[in-house]
Amino acid sequence: MRWCGATDGFLALIDQTLLPVEFCEIECHDVAAVWEAIKMLRVRGAPAIGIAAAYGVCIGLQDVAQDGDEVFFAKLDEVSDYLAGSRPTAVNLFWALDRMRACGQSLRGELPSEQILERLLQEAQAIHAEDRAMCHAIGRHGADLLRDGQGVLTHCNAGGLATAEYGTALSVFFTAQDLGKQLHIYVDETRPLLQGARLTAWELSQRGIDATLICDSMAAQVMREGRVQAVITGADRIAANGDTANKIGTYSIAVLARAHQIPFFVAAPTNTFDLSLESGDGIPIEERRPEEITHGFGRQTAPDQVAVYNPAFDVTPAEYIDAIITERGVIKPVTPAAVASMVAGDHSG
Ligand code: MRU
Repeated sequence: MRWCGATDGFLALIDQTLLPVEFCEIECHDVAAVWEAIKMLRVRGAPAIGIAAAYGVCIGLQDVAQDGDEVFFAKLDEVSDYLAGSRPTAVNLFWALDRMRACGQSLRGELPSEQILERLLQEAQAIHAEDRAMCHAIGRHGADLLRDGQGVLTHCNAGGLATAEYGTALSVFFTAQDLGKQLHIYVDETRPLLQGARLTAWELSQRGIDATLICDSMAAQVMREGRVQAVITGADRIAANGDTANKIGTYSIAVLARAHQIPFFVAAPTNTFDLSLESGDGIPIEERRPEEITHGFGRQTAPDQVAVYNPAFDVTPAEYIDAIITERGVIKPVTPAAVASMVAGDHSG
């Protein structure tokens, strides 16, 4: 994802719905286009959604850059609320919008709106750059947890496409490889929208990492056969006790990993934590259209009128998570106190 131009510029995104068959960039010139890109998963993955929304705020304010405070700040609220309605689960979206709103408000009355917009664009670019740095740091911390020759299972896509660059779970693999550790990654295809098959398998092949694609339902057998020695996934929102929302199917893998005594790791930046929620019970779970299941990729695969339940995320209880890899260090064991101190930044790691 990249911002093109100055404050009157636009956001260019890879349309992830077309990968891996087509590599196509779209341009978002108005805030509705950014909202649609997030909603339709053209841009997806918790950190990437937050970055796109931050740029979306700038786009939404372009028309009122010459107006006075009242109009400008009313629009800032309107655009932020609108973008916040695109997807409910990834907390990075709300984190980024809050940060943009706070940045704008801190300058109210100090600068003309045109200059506040300039500062907001700098803030969005800072969010983007910080995410890049956090992903690299997550990779460095996580690579220590893996050994040369291991098989590792991942779910969904927590790679460069889902972040500013490099990814979270995939950053661990990329960094381990750079350190000379040879890994073999098992990639869950990730029903129903196949982020694993379409995006993770593509990213790993781009980097020349050994990967094998499996259906989600094959994970138990793959573990039983002794093919994987660790699991690493990303996260969309982590509660204060370490309960973690991630792509639907993650919870079942965590339970399987425990049954096979395989360590289960989550990789996520500290802005994916939501300390306002005591446990994962409070995490809003997005429910998506039935057609994603009944008509996946254009072909009907279920009878007309069948009832469908399509939650896009699930919550893995902290007790199944052996460690959470953040940009500041590794939370292990995952306890409310360890989460609190890592997020506050007063840890020793
Ligand atoms: O619905 P998606 O594709 O946005 O879901 C993405 C995930 O669940 C990722 O694993 C998560 O956002 C971590 S991305 C670094």
